[in-house]
Amino acid sequence: MADCAGEIDRVARWLCEAKSVVVLTGAGVSAESGLATFRDPSEHGDALWSKYDPMELATIGAFERDPELVTRWYHWRFTKCAEVEPNPGHHALGELERWLTQRRSPEAFTLVTQNIDGLHQRGGSRRVVELHGTIHTWRCTKTGRERPLADVSFDRFPVASGHGGMMRPCVVWFGEALPEEALALTDAALERCDLFLSVGTSSTVQPAASLVEVARQRGAKTVEINRDATPITDHVDAALPGVSGEILPALVRRTKELAGTPPIADT
Ligand code: OAD
Repeated sequence: MADCAGEIDRVARWLCEAKSVVVLTGAGVSAESGLATFRDPSEHGDALWSKYDPMELATIGAFERDPELVTRWYHWRFTKCAEVEPNPGHHALGELERWLTQRRSPEAFTLVTQNIDGLHQRGGSRRVVELHGTIHTWRCTKTGRERPLADVSFDRFPVASGHGGMMRPCVVWFGEALPEEALALTDAALERCDLFLSVGTSSTVQPAASLVEVARQRGAKTVEINRDATPITDHVDAALPGVSGEILPALVRRTKELAGTPPIADT
């Protein structure tokens, strides 16, 4: 990380000047909490889609073919989410939100995530746009009625909804539309944003992968924070190579130093 101290400084200056910031996150942000990512260019072998076939686990067709398998898979995944804690990268984003919104306005910061794990909220982020839904809410396949995870009983797989349907997680599966409200909030945030940060995402899954380009076309500076190179690395205004659990806290610390304000206490 020492290698990119100069770049951190540059991006920290942009954060001090920015009127409205959008941060897009992906699975890499939760990696240091202990959650596996989906793809891993370093081929450590832990990435979910190198061990499992997304077409058998994350599509409506898969759920219709084998609801027990798909329900067990999401049950396993939320058990994993519950076992882990937000890491310093999550906390830094929560701190950045508090700092920017107190300094400017509630619209000065939007966190858009592809993650369904809820770790941003647990790390102190308040306004989180969940582009791929959440594993913490489930809904009836028949009525569409939603229930918090705590109200779903997993003593049998698949889980009957009680209304003639089954319970499925409120996550976006391949081939499904993204939640309309999340898309609208993202678009509005991109419209006003003058600084866009892409953090811990492979930038390969659409439409999230295109948001950086939309932001750039609307005049925002663009930044990537990633352990590895991605398709956008050569196209952003600044690339900060490294793990988000180290880069994000360093970036937020430096931003506050440059702005000369004391840290805001955790709430
Ligand atoms: P990926 O697993 O595709 O990419 C994770 C990215 O994070 C990669 O570029 C890694 O190199 C990087 N990375 C890993 N550890 C990191 C760390 N500690 N700090 C910074 N970067 C790190 O995850 P996403 O881009 O989020 O969708 O995947 C997008 C979507 O594909 C997911 O939401 C999911 C998946 O299929 C659905 O299930 C619909």
